[in-house]
Amino acid sequence: MGEEAKVEVLPEEFDPKGIQGPIGPESNGVEVVLGRNVHKMCLSIQEPETDEEVTGEREAYMASVLARYRKSLVERTQHHLGYPLNLDFDYGALVQLQHFSINNLGDPFIESNYGVHSREFEVGVLDWFARLWELEKNEYWGYITNCGTEGNLHGILVGREVFPDGILYASMESHYSVFKAARMYRMECVQINTLVSGEIDCADFLEKLLLNKEKPAIVNVNIGTTVKGAVDDLDRVIKTLEEAGYKDRFYIHCDGALFGLMMPFVKQAPKVTFKKPIDSVSVSGHKFVGCPMPCGVQITRLKHINDFSRNVEYLASRDATIMGSRNGHGPIFLWYTLNRKGYKGFQKEVQKCLRNAHYLKDRLREAKISAMLNELSSTVVFERPKDEGFIRRWQLACQGNIAHVVVMPNVSIKKLDNFLKELVQERANWYQDEKIQSPCVAADIGKENCICVVHKN
Ligand SMILES: Cc1ncc(COP(=O)(O)O)c(C=O)c1O
Repeated sequence: MGEEAKVEVLPEEFDPKGIQGPIGPESNGVEVVLGRNVHKMCLSIQEPETDEEVTGEREAYMASVLARYRKSLVERTQHHLGYPLNLDFDYGALVQLQHFSINNLGDPFIESNYGVHSREFEVGVLDWFARLWELEKNEYWGYITNCGTEGNLHGILVGREVFPDGILYASMESHYSVFKAARMYRMECVQINTLVSGEIDCADFLEKLLLNKEKPAIVNVNIGTTVKGAVDDLDRVIKTLEEAGYKDRFYIHCDGALFGLMMPFVKQAPKVTFKKPIDSVSVSGHKFVGCPMPCGVQITRLKHINDFSRNVEYLASRDATIMGSRNGHGPIFLWYTLNRKGYKGFQKEVQKCLRNAHYLKDRLREAKISAMLNELSSTVVFERPKDEGFIRRWQLACQGNIAHVVVMPNVSIKKLDNFLKELVQERANWYQDEKIQSPCVAADIGKENCICVVHKN
């Protein structure tokens, strides 16, 4: 095997610019072909040899793969702007725990037979979030999920258990996991139109509620949409439900995957609180909080869970979660970062993100690039860069004619300046110093934010 292993080249995804080989349009890294498994990226596994000399070579080969992988991660992290991940963290103190198989299977509040768990950290984190969203300790239930998607799957499932014949209402700009939940649970789902900002259109919501009055409503409210960072007006959603005659016949799940933790620290933002008639809130732990592994937090009202859960004898616990085994490391990372930063630390980070997001939007507009920033958001939406290589290099998330940068705590002014400089330079080539017209994005972000040839005045 030795020879073969030595000559194996790493796939191009491992060779970003500045390390080895190109990345960009000339790279054939990512290709999406629906219905086909494009197998371009693979570090194949080879069976171990019994010959020790060869084994030594194998170890050296694996070490070199990992070293190059690490290098590419450093580079990719430097050029990351499109996905809402806070990459600013230091969890060195937790390295010592890597040797343990920490698993929180079962209910966080009921000790199971498996002793290598981190439930005490988990409950500490849950208490912190319950306090943030104003639900008493004896009235909430929750758990650390695998991600924001699992939080949505759980919240909507609890809603369906509370109202088995309920209809799921979600704005068109809700995350795809919400519609996946509807498919998984075979729920009737009604999509609501959105405003240009990306917020739910409550006039359309009212109309659709009135068409289905005989069935209760399970509503997904976005505390920050994926693409435009729009925050649905929770108070208006509640008012609309009441106006349509749904009093006490609705369940509200708040999808706060990104902004669930930012909103409480924005003064003018509508408050997400269990003092209002909401039923569950979820947030991703790897986004604003900044965990190096996917995780999330789900909080709901205890009264809902008592009907929903089942006892499991072999765990000596209760089953009220979506997953079986649950990552026990995640809660420790969350506990660690919450302890270090506290409410005040997060508040500062939120303010910095909002400031930097405004900076980016203003610079884009100065450079005559169509751009929009929702008032409560750090997601800057702008005209989709013309070149796929550029999109990949900066890992921008795009939809149709628009792209976005999510300004997280690790996104400094310096990083934004580097990005802007490159974008402006490249754009001059793409549009040949305005000889070619840039696209109109008025339909996506409003004509007041569009600087195409028609709307620039
Ligand atoms: C609004 C919204 N909800 C849910 C999710 C899913 O979160 P996760 O990636 O943690 O599963 C996302 C992810 O970007 C999101 O933007």
